[in-house]
Parts: sequence; C-alpha cells; structure tokens
Amino acid sequence: MNPLNDQQIIDSWQKNAAPWTTAVRENHIESRTLVTNQAIVDAVLAIGPKTVLDIGCGEGWLARELATHSIRVLGLDVVSELVEQACKTGGGRFEVMSYEDLAAGKLTERFDAAVCNFSLLGKESVDGIFNIMPTLLHTGGYFIVQTIHPVMSCGDQVYQDGWREGSWHGFSNDFTDPAPWYFRTIESWVRMFHEHHFHLTEIRDPMNPYTGKPASIVLVGRLNN
Ligand SMILES: C[S@@+](CC[C@H](N)C(=O)[O-])C[C@H]1O[C@@H](n2cnc3c(N)ncnc32)[C@H](O)[C@@H]1O
Repeated sequence: MNPLNDQQIIDSWQKNAAPWTTAVRENHIESRTLVTNQAIVDAVLAIGPKTVLDIGCGEGWLARELATHSIRVLGLDVVSELVEQACKTGGGRFEVMSYEDLAAGKLTERFDAAVCNFSLLGKESVDGIFNIMPTLLHTGGYFIVQTIHPVMSCGDQVYQDGWREGSWHGFSNDFTDPAPWYFRTIESWVRMFHEHHFHLTEIRDPMNPYTGKPASIVLVGRLNN
C-alpha cells in the first residue's frame, strides 16, 4: 500500500475532531470567515435546492447555515465525535458514515444537491463518491465541490495528480498528525465530473480580497438526464 493513503485521512480526523470544532466555531480560519464559507453557501443557494446531502459535514456548520434558508440537510461524516457535535447543535439530520460505506450503497435516499466543502481529500475515497453520486441525486440534481485551488496549492511540486504530505501550518498547536491529501489538477477535477455523468454549469474562483488570489475553487456539476 502507498504510505500515503485514504485511511490516514480518517485516522487524522479522528484525532483532530476537538481542535477542528473549536477552530470552525470560534472562526479561527481566516480564509473561511473572509471568503469560502459565503462562497459555498452562495453556490448552494444559487441552485435553489430543497434537500442537500452534506458529505464530510464535520461539526455541521453548513447544515446550520442552510437551515436558516429552509433547506433540509443530511450531514454525513466518519468521525463520530464531529457528528455528535453536529447533532447537539442541530440544524439538520446527521449520521456517522464513511465515504467507503456511502460508495458501497449504504444510503438509499436521494437529494436535490450534494455538497462537499473541503472534504474530498483522498484518492479511492473520492473516486467512490463520484461513482455513487448519480444514485444519490434526483434527475437534474447538482453536485457542488469546494476545494483547495490546485494552482494556488501546487507549490514547488510538479503540477500533476498525486499524494502529498499534509501540514497543519497556520492552525493551532492543538492539531496533530496531519493527513496526507491527494492533489488533483483542474483538468482532473473537470474530468471527474464529466466521466461520472455531470456537466459543469459553473466553476468559481472565490477571491481573497487581501491577497488578490483565489481562496478556493468551487465546481458545480449538474447530473445529465
Ligand atoms: C476539512 S474537514 C471539512 C468539514 C466540513 N465540510 C466543513 O466545511 O467544515 C474534512 C471532513 O471530511 C471528513 N472525512 C474525510 N475522509 C472521510 C471519509 N473517508 N469518510 C467520511 N468522512 C470523511 C472528515 O472527518 C472531516 O470532517
């Protein structure tokens, strides 16, 4: 097995549930409060769904936010501590479920839209989500992904798909054991949507007003009929 792999991502999030909940709820992550939280909310509201599946929901902030717009959300996450936090705070239904179980067909409901907000981090786990996605959406449903901008996050390495070492740089010292992540080029993300029966209706580069650079990339795919 590759020393950098999908299981390490799960292991890392199991260890970092508490500091993550604090960081999100106390607004420690500037790019989120400044740009990317509003970017994903805007992208969801623009398509007007009544029901949303939030995949890798974390402590549940997006469900709470969408609930204020009368959207019914089911949030899924593999980390039970995060799901407990989400349930306690409310705003939607939340269940412990891994991407691997989701990809194996464990969820039988369909939604108007599915959202992954900075939660597609691995390789096989992400392939599995794309494979199952058409069965989780109503006809013409949307799949919205916000992720780290490939051009901005490439650094000095070659611009090609592959596993990268993780880091908690910029986060508090309470975070440990950073997870590796699977880098994908913009071309690869676009191909993932097209190969799994989606056409891209929009690609957004939400801008950080202070740096003048994209804070993320948001891809909006619509399921082909
Ligand atoms: C960066 S956090 C984002 C959380 C949330 N979407 C947000 O915007 O705050 C990534 C989330 O993906 C979840 N995750 C990663 N791999 C997973 C897997 N294989 N199955 C289920 N959840 C997973 C983690 O537990 C974590 O909550």
